[in-house]
Amino acid sequence: MTITIALAGKGGVGKTTITGMIIKYLVQNQSGSVLAIDADPSSNLNMVLGLELEWTVGDIREDLLDQVKESLLAGGAAMGTVSGGMTKRDYLDYQVRSSLAEGQQFDLIAMGRSEGQGCYCAVNHNLRQVVDSLSRSYRYVVIDNEAGMEHLSRRTTRDVQHLLVVSDPTLRGIVAARRIADFRKEMDIHIENTYLVVNRLQGEMPAALLQHIENLDFPFLGSVPADQNLAEYEFTGQPLVDLGDDSPVYQAVAEMLQKIL
Ligand SMILES: Nc1ncnc2c1ncn2[C@@H]1O[C@H](COP(=O)(O)OP(=O)(O)OP(=O)(O)O)[C@@H](O)[C@H]1O
Ligand SMILES: [Mg+2]
Repeated sequence: MTITIALAGKGGVGKTTITGMIIKYLVQNQSGSVLAIDADPSSNLNMVLGLELEWTVGDIREDLLDQVKESLLAGGAAMGTVSGGMTKRDYLDYQVRSSLAEGQQFDLIAMGRSEGQGCYCAVNHNLRQVVDSLSRSYRYVVIDNEAGMEHLSRRTTRDVQHLLVVSDPTLRGIVAARRIADFRKEMDIHIENTYLVVNRLQGEMPAALLQHIENLDFPFLGSVPADQNLAEYEFTGQPLVDLGDDSPVYQAVAEMLQKIL
């Protein structure tokens, strides 16, 4: 069975950074294939992972819609098939598989821009199914989401085993994390476990903050220390997965994964 881990949280709290560390951990410590899904149109998970990305799922959708438009203008049949007589579903399946960025030990797919104007429902439905069926062939799927939570259910029909809600170590952050986590109750996908992760902690967790954390209706998984080293990687764009195994950020994430996997 595929184990799906999804990251959520407000803007800038460290979702993409932690996603990178999770991929690094899975590749180094677990047997089984790993698929990273970048579900944030403005994210660069590929840079954190050190991979080139040529196509996104959004590009594939726009391309297909252009083909349908052209075919309509030329008086051809709009529905069912695309050029070459392939069904749309097969075509999307082929395109999505070709758009995978293949790392040495994991693959990456980026969802790209979200739906534009107009009714793309059928195409999006097909695409979700294609991405989901692709996901099923991996042991681990890790989804880096854009800020907030509204998008997760539009991006996948999969069940999520572990939802990690990331927060900064502030009361405002924890309140936002609770709001984001509450959204899980309204979604049509099943989330088995939800956890809080506090990122960029300096020193010990303040008792006042811990009290608020303990009052949440989902458990605290752990904290990740603030690490000045990351800034140096970010200045030069060096992939964060190149951080050494002794990086405190990596070690904290590894410890959390040991608890839940
Ligand atoms: N533990 C940490 N210590 C130091 N810097 C960190 C830490 N975690 C993340 N950062 C830095 O914080 C910035 C934001 O991190 P990141 O991009 O992972 O957040 P995000 O939640 O994915 O943001 P967005 O909502 O924009 O997608 C980055 O510059 C990253 O290097
Ligand atoms: Mg991000």
